[in-house]
Amino acid sequence: MPITTCIFDAYGTLFDVAAAARQAASDPSFAAIKDDWPALAEHWRAKQLQYTWLRAVTDAHTDFWEVTQQGLDWALEKTGHDGDLALRERLLALYWELQSYPEVPLMLHSLKDAGLNTAILSNGSPDMLDGAVQSAGIADVLDDCLSVQSVGIFKPDARVYDLVGQRFDCAKDEVLFVSSNGWDAAAATGYGFTTAWVNRAGEPVDRLPWVPAHKLSDLSGIPALAAV
Ligand code: LAC
Repeated sequence: MPITTCIFDAYGTLFDVAAAARQAASDPSFAAIKDDWPALAEHWRAKQLQYTWLRAVTDAHTDFWEVTQQGLDWALEKTGHDGDLALRERLLALYWELQSYPEVPLMLHSLKDAGLNTAILSNGSPDMLDGAVQSAGIADVLDDCLSVQSVGIFKPDARVYDLVGQRFDCAKDEVLFVSSNGWDAAAATGYGFTTAWVNRAGEPVDRLPWVPAHKLSDLSGIPALAAV
């Protein structure tokens, strides 16, 4: 089946999750993290994701905003910045206005010009996603933002991927699912979507039972993949 619907993971795929720590570090008020902001950002992201998986397997779902804060608290303590409440507040505020990767607006415009459905499918809560979409200025090139909040479990539970067919009334093989998270792209492959893994950092492929159909180094090649 030809691709009719392009679905994007949000954090790390459309929005640069390291941008919050990078931006804070460039502010003289937060010079304390000028050297170790990359480690802080990496720990924050890793813990945020681990907490989503652990909450899914233990049936202890909560809002993505809560795991985002809990991941940050762990990362701040790990890097020795846990007493810095102004830094914590600034990093959390920046998470609501993350920058998109530079090629995102043009890529989404190309998909809409080609008549394709476009949407986000994310662990993010609807209000977090709305903040990021508005600050990136891409609301007019997205048909929807689908959040796990409506099913009450995090990715990669199949009930999350089910939201796509429910919203767009399309078959799995009409969907191009795009994620920078190797585990998300792998699980979506197992679910039955055509998948593209955006591997900006040149990471090794995840050792899981499913391998993404396409591998890209950024999002600029998505319109060509969707047109095949
Ligand atoms: C999301 C996380 C997994 O946006 O990046 O769902």
